Amino acid sequence: APGSPALTPPMGWNSWNSFGCGITEAQVRQAADAMVSSGMKDAGYQYVVVDDCWFDPQRDAQGNLRANPTKFPSGMKALGDYIHSKGLKFGIYQAPNEVTCAQGVGTYPGATGSKGHEAQDAATFASWGVDYLKYDWCSGSGTLSEQVERFTIMRDALRATGRPIVYSINPNSFHAPTGDKYNWGEVADLWRTTEDLLDIWQNNNTNSYPMGVGNVLDVTAPLAAQSGPGHWNDPDMLVVGRPGLSLTESRAHFALWALMAAPLMAGNDIRTMSADVSAILRNPRLVAVNQDPLGAGGRRVRDDGATEVFAKPLADGSVAVGLFNRGGSTTTATQVGLTGGSFTLTDLWTGGTSSTSGQISASVPAHGVAVFKMTGGSPLDATTARLRSTGSGRCLDVD
Ligand code: GLA
Repeated sequence: APGSPALTPPMGWNSWNSFGCGITEAQVRQAADAMVSSGMKDAGYQYVVVDDCWFDPQRDAQGNLRANPTKFPSGMKALGDYIHSKGLKFGIYQAPNEVTCAQGVGTYPGATGSKGHEAQDAATFASWGVDYLKYDWCSGSGTLSEQVERFTIMRDALRATGRPIVYSINPNSFHAPTGDKYNWGEVADLWRTTEDLLDIWQNNNTNSYPMGVGNVLDVTAPLAAQSGPGHWNDPDMLVVGRPGLSLTESRAHFALWALMAAPLMAGNDIRTMSADVSAILRNPRLVAVNQDPLGAGGRRVRDDGATEVFAKPLADGSVAVGLFNRGGSTTTATQVGLTGGSFTLTDLWTGGTSSTSGQISASVPAHGVAVFKMTGGSPLDATTARLRSTGSGRCLDVD
């Protein structure tokens, strides 16, 4: 949205996937500690976001939000100060309705949503040092125009505080008009494109809740042209390292989210993650592709059924290419290439390099992604971020 502080996709950690409504202040502080000790902060992760269920079920006599005193005994200002003392940024959750999602489904008491309190709540968040708001539509009703109006009220309220606060919205909860039906780029800095992603590879029964990695990819990939600095498609928080995915699947999920220029919000318990999971989240080459300043969303440039090819143009004229194997057995992904010279091929998982005259293919394990950066030759037309076959030009060879 105009004035967005998110010129590259936000990176951080969010409490929901691992802690749900049980989240406590101690866990958030430990997550902030782990963000530093694990090396995630050095890898570029910044935001520590407290999702639903942090607040007291009653506003105070003046209508102000306050922390749940049992779960967050030091209060949100102190928690924000702690997060900031680690060199990190503080995120919080609210809803544009009477209720938050947990209140709507009855797993948390009260009705403390921001509807009618937008300016007051934005001012409260700014006074606590909030740097990121996740604002989650939690009503079974509401037309698209009502959603646009209500999400815009909070956008303006946040900007009016004068504090740079990343504005992350979810138009999807409770089966309201879903985020893939509208380009929210003027309204929010990032917006969810689907219902919740769980640690499932693929839900073959439905393209709605619960979404798997493949389902979210299929809804979001066609929206790639919407992504750019200050306005990002959000295919939901990462489930990397969650128990339902194998390590290969976590790697594929991370590579695909990096290529889509998705926000990288870890959702695993980063206090206890394995070295393998930590290495996926901190892969410096994939993080660089995700954070590339051009901000192009990766496009699906080939779809051969079980194998697919994604390509993301980068600011320096090189291109990141993912060869994705959705199928159940190892396969050689169909070739894709650039024409017009000799290229350096960097394997983004390992950092190993080789050279190629343009065509690349790879043996990819079941549910895996081989991902490369192709550098060299004459630069791609990075300004338009388009991938075109021009015959003699050095563009991706799309057929
Ligand atoms: C919705 C959102 C989730 C999470 C929960 C909290 O389901 O999509 O990401 O914020 O609400 O209740």
